[in-house]
Amino acid sequence: MIVLGIETSCDETAAAIVADSPAGPSIRANLVEAQQCEHAPYGGVVPEIAARAHLDRLDALVARTLTVAGLPLAALDGIAAAAGPGLVGGLIVGTMLAKGMAWAAAKPFVAVNHLEAHALSARLVDRIAFPYLLLLASGGHCQLLCVAGVGRYRRLGTTLDDAAGEAFDKAAKLIGLPYPGGPAIERAACGGNAERFPLPRPMKGRPGCDFSFSGLKTAVRQIVAARQTLDARDRTDLAAAVELAICDALVDRTANAVLWFRRHHPEGRSLVAAGGVAANARLRRRLVALARDAGLAFAAPPPSLCTDNGAMIAWAGRERLRLGLCDGLDAPPRPRWPLDPAAAGGGR
Ligand code: KG4
Ligand code: ZN
Repeated sequence: MIVLGIETSCDETAAAIVADSPAGPSIRANLVEAQQCEHAPYGGVVPEIAARAHLDRLDALVARTLTVAGLPLAALDGIAAAAGPGLVGGLIVGTMLAKGMAWAAAKPFVAVNHLEAHALSARLVDRIAFPYLLLLASGGHCQLLCVAGVGRYRRLGTTLDDAAGEAFDKAAKLIGLPYPGGPAIERAACGGNAERFPLPRPMKGRPGCDFSFSGLKTAVRQIVAARQTLDARDRTDLAAAVELAICDALVDRTANAVLWFRRHHPEGRSLVAAGGVAANARLRRRLVALARDAGLAFAAPPPSLCTDNGAMIAWAGRERLRLGLCDGLDAPPRPRWPLDPAAAGGGR
């Protein structure tokens, strides 16, 4: 089965083709055009700029994706697009193109939940069996989920304020590092003294699996405000402190989720991390150790498949098509679309 996936929910215009055979899945083409230059002057994503940039680029990007894969449109078995959650302008651009192609080529269309795509991405690379425990940490979301199957998600915890990636981005802006903040902080933190600036670990030690990062941001702001300027050493040490504090908070909450998972799913074998923040090497090392101590295997996609991409959308489409699930051409874009509607709190 060969599926095209289109991703336009935030600030990456992306398309990919994933093929699946009895030998396992393979990525035949995976193209990402970041819009970071357009958003960088504003220190964050500007929805209107994102929507126009998707509109300008997507047609040509999808055509190139087919060319790279060496496949005609007729060879596809399905066309998937991220239909939410995300910025509505981009979601309209991506789903409209996917629907138009599906209609013209008489192929099934799949409206993919972007969070589900992150959640299933580890299965594209490693053949992780259900159920597994998932830490999904990105720019817009920070959740712990039990993934029991395609479409079967139980949310164990979520953020009460900012997402982990948002905390990286906001801290980076305060420190004077470029957007996106996560990779910038990871680079800047190298060789830094993470102990020099004491930062809070919000929620650490409390029961449950919820996160909070706004206190961390406030603490960084106060440190920066208390100094006239930051020199290179200050920036390195502060970046190291921020990276360590966010990792500590993520690992502490994940440890509580591991206890829940082992009690409720003794048959479960894996702890999985996904979303842009899962590209962070320090976090990955910490999660490897946490999983090992709990007798679980750790899996995470390679960093290029942690941040937003079309391959995860194509793969989620593939997983749904395998179960006979597809969507009508009237499926709406959904700016808010929680993975576990039963959990309180709406779309985050
Ligand atoms: O999954 P993603 O590409 O987009 C969303 O769905 O939000 O995640 C983007 C987020 C940004 O906040 C970015 O700063 C963060 O992931 N990020 C990282 C790293 N790479 C990306 N955070 C920490 N370390 C990284 N290496
Ligand atoms: Zn994402």
